[in-house]
Formats: sequence, structure tokens, C-alpha cells
Amino acid sequence: MYQTLLSNLENGIYTITINRPDKLNALNKNVFTDLNAAIDEIESNNEIRSVIITGSGTKAFVAGADISEFNALNKDEAKALAKRGQDTFARIENCSKPIVAAVNGFALGGGCELAMACHFRIASENAKFGQPEVNLGLIPGYGGTQRLVQLIGKGKAMELLISAHMIDAKEAKELGLVNYVTTTETLIEHTKQILSVINSKAPLAIASCIKAANAVFDESKNGFTLEIEEFGNCFDTADMKEGTTAFIEKRKAVFTGK
Ligand code: COA
Repeated sequence: MYQTLLSNLENGIYTITINRPDKLNALNKNVFTDLNAAIDEIESNNEIRSVIITGSGTKAFVAGADISEFNALNKDEAKALAKRGQDTFARIENCSKPIVAAVNGFALGGGCELAMACHFRIASENAKFGQPEVNLGLIPGYGGTQRLVQLIGKGKAMELLISAHMIDAKEAKELGLVNYVTTTETLIEHTKQILSVINSKAPLAIASCIKAANAVFDESKNGFTLEIEEFGNCFDTADMKEGTTAFIEKRKAVFTGK
């Protein structure tokens, strides 16, 4: 189905593993093609309730965009490459189903940007985060300058962007870049436990939360107005009737996503 990704659907959780371990899972053109196909699958397959993105092997989540594709690019080609990366990561960020990055090693450059485009991040204790582009005479092109500031604040983000300094999982947690740090062995299991709780909630309400929270960072939208809109929409759903009825009847709600 994919050239560069492994995929597995179990209990509603779709696990996507970027699978170029000999290149530390660097993001080349094929990975972007596959990620776009995977997002199509996630949006259209009703059996998929939530998603994990991780990297193959124990060393890297993703060590960046594939630097070997950069050398021959001219300015316009470079801009087109950045645009494609940004558009792909925006599709992840705006996906109606929760997408969590399980960061199992280096998350550098485009890898850090990919993790930041996910709805939240869980890291194993050997994870390392950074935007080392200035080492290459470059800057992040897949949204990194924006999302790093959004997630950890301007002062620290600026330092990381202009120094290429790498941080470990513990510091990433202190900065709010990751929600939890696990051992290498328990990373996927821990992520699945969190997603299995999320999967028991009302899918349309989850989609509305994602939309409304993302509106904070979208200048074309008024988040408070959008929140009212989405709140109202919930009242048209069978799941809202089920959730409120189940509460009153003191039983567990069974949501259908309708
Ligand atoms: N693009 C293309 N290839 C990459 C890559 C990237 N971003 N990151 C790693 N690789 C390749 C290496 O070229 C090497 O391939 P080879 O075995 O064919 O020579 C292989 O992955 C293993 O990497 P290596 O550098 O030997 O591993 P290491 O343990 O010595 O170092 C890193 C690990 C992550 C510190 C180092 O690979 C690195 O700095 N990568 C680039 C990070 C970066 O600048 N990312 C931002 C890109 S915009």
C-alpha cells in the first residue's frame, strides 16, 4: 500500500511507521506521497479512530528532511518543496481524528516539524529534538519556525532555532513540547493506552475540539465564534443525545460517531 511507511490498524488505532531506518527515516518525496495517501486513508476509513506516527528502529523518529534531495534545488523548487511539506503537515494538524507522534529517537528538522504538526507528542527517554537547519545554511521550511514558537514560546524557540541546539526528552517535557516521557520499550504501549481512552469518546466532538483549538493559531478564524458554531453542531448529533442520556441514566455512553 505504501512504499516508505508501514501501517497497522488495531482496535481503531492506525499506527504509521516511517520506514527508512538506514537513512534515519529522513523525509524524501516518497515519504510525503505516502503520508498524503495515509491521511486520505485516515479521513475515509471509518474503522480508524486515531493515529500514531512513529519511526522505524530505535535510533530515530525522523532525522529531518532528506538532505540529499536539497543540493540541486533552485529557489523556486525549494519554495515548492517547502509548500508541499507545509501543506502535508497542515493536513495532519487539521485532521479530524487525533494524530499523536510517538517520538522514538532523533526528531530533527522536518522530524521535529512532523512531530509538532501532530496533535500532541509522547517521547521515549532517548528522544532528541532540534531544528538544526542553520547548520546547513537553511531554516525550517515545514512550519517549524511557527509551531515551535506556538508550542514552547518565543524565547526558547528562538534560541533553539538560531543555535541548532538539541534538547533531550526530559527538557522537551519541561518545555511542554511533549506530554509524557516513557522508556523505549513502553512508548507504543503507553501511546496506545492514551488513545484507547480517547477512542471511547464521541468522535464528532473530538473533531470539533481539534478544529476549535487549531483556530487559536489561524488568523482567518475567530476561535470563540467557531467554538459557538461547533458547540451548536454537537446538539445535532446522536452522540450528544447518547452522552447526555447515558449520564442521566448512570450508564456508560456508547458513541457511534453520528
Ligand atoms: N537526510 C538524509 N540522510 C540522512 C539524514 C537526513 N536528514 N539524517 C541521517 N541521514 C543518513 C546519513 O547520511 C547516513 O546515511 P549513510 O549510512 O548512507 O551514510 C544514515 O542516515 C545514518 O546517519 P549517521 O549520520 O551516520 O548517524 P549518526 O548516528 O552518526 O548521526 C544524526 C545521527 C541524526 C546526528 C545525523 O545523522 C544528522 O545530523 N542528521 C541530519 C540532521 C539534520 O540536519 N536534519 C535537518 C535536515 S533539514
